[in-house]
Amino acid sequence: MSSSPAGSLPSWLPIRDDLAGHTAYGAPQIDVPVQLNTNENPYPPAPALAQAITHAVGEVAGTLNRYPDRDAVALRGDLAAYLGHGLEADQIWAANGSNEIIQQLFQAFGGQGRTALGFEPSYSMHPLIALATGTRWISGARDADFGLEPGHALAAIRDHQPDLVFLTSPNNPTGTALAPEVIEAVCAAAPGMVIVDEAYAEFARDTSATALTLLSRCRRLVVTRTMSKAFALAGARVGYLAADPAVPQALLLVRLPYHLSAVTQAVARAVLALASEPLATVAALRGQRDDLVAWLRGRGLRVADSDANFVLFGEFGDRHAIWQALLDRGVLIRETGPAGWLRVTAGTPAEMAAFRDALDAVLARGGDPPDPPVAATRRAVASRRGSTSRAESPDPGETAVPGQPAAEVQR
Ligand SMILES: Cc1ncc(COP(=O)(O)O)c(C=O)c1O
Repeated sequence: MSSSPAGSLPSWLPIRDDLAGHTAYGAPQIDVPVQLNTNENPYPPAPALAQAITHAVGEVAGTLNRYPDRDAVALRGDLAAYLGHGLEADQIWAANGSNEIIQQLFQAFGGQGRTALGFEPSYSMHPLIALATGTRWISGARDADFGLEPGHALAAIRDHQPDLVFLTSPNNPTGTALAPEVIEAVCAAAPGMVIVDEAYAEFARDTSATALTLLSRCRRLVVTRTMSKAFALAGARVGYLAADPAVPQALLLVRLPYHLSAVTQAVARAVLALASEPLATVAALRGQRDDLVAWLRGRGLRVADSDANFVLFGEFGDRHAIWQALLDRGVLIRETGPAGWLRVTAGTPAEMAAFRDALDAVLARGGDPPDPPVAATRRAVASRRGSTSRAESPDPGETAVPGQPAAEVQR
């Protein structure tokens, strides 16, 4: 079942006034051959890693009558070792995806009577979590090229004096990375917490430009990360942060007891122990992304520079028609970002070839009815898979059709 817009809730349901009429997060989950809409890593765990995960889950299976380590100490140590930069376990906190990390940050440092400032277009969950936690969201604007000029950011901070500032780098949906100097200037000016959402940090062209380097100088800085993208672990739900040790201490007040299951902790530790395997996909995906940027530009389209595992491209008079025509050809991308732009996730070589074929067909026909149909795209992806590397999922078969009528799909 897909999520439904809160705006369609029945009037007898006494939902909070400030939530009524709002729309829930709802990236479509549709069974099509080429899924390039939620910035997942397309490579499933290799057999050796899957076996290590299975073994780790087997180890904890016999202990599940007990609550897990409430503070996930061993996992936080592993994450600190992965991040480097001299970080220690007490500077790390972990939760069910970085979305939960962000929610806990809002619960601890935002809430009623407090404000959070972000620079949009950016990740749609930041304002939604603000809403859910009763924090007033202030929408600042990014520059025309989707960057953030320090003077502009500082003026917004001066004007609004926000309790939290959100900076996303690389930014979703634009792919734009911020220079550490911009983040440092924001930290110096912000009266409250500064959260840098680095969900896509591993895909950056310059991975040394991380806000982790600023932690020792900026006490109220928090850097959030996730295992969903570079580690190809979206299904396990593991996110984390790095900050001053006082920050995890504060989050103990808002986290639910035993929030991170023993199974989740074991899976995350098993993957971190073999980190080089999933992280090897990052170089391949960076290459796919760069090729995609060049190819789209070659088609005369506008393309935002990307330091993430996705690309924002446009501009289309009717982007929904393009999105729909691609979906009709079995290729699901995301209708998000500024009007007229679309976002596509970097996939396997076979998926990228299917995307290019479909977009060429759509552009050539100006959004006409599908040709080739979904089944043909599935066949094309399956046959191209024969020549690609290890990490391909099994072909789900040709009989599957989109899970819901396209007209009902939420965007
Ligand atoms: C910028 C950004 N932050 C955070 C997240 C949340 O990721 P997760 O909850 O899977 O860690 C996403 C997911 O796409 C994202 O794009």
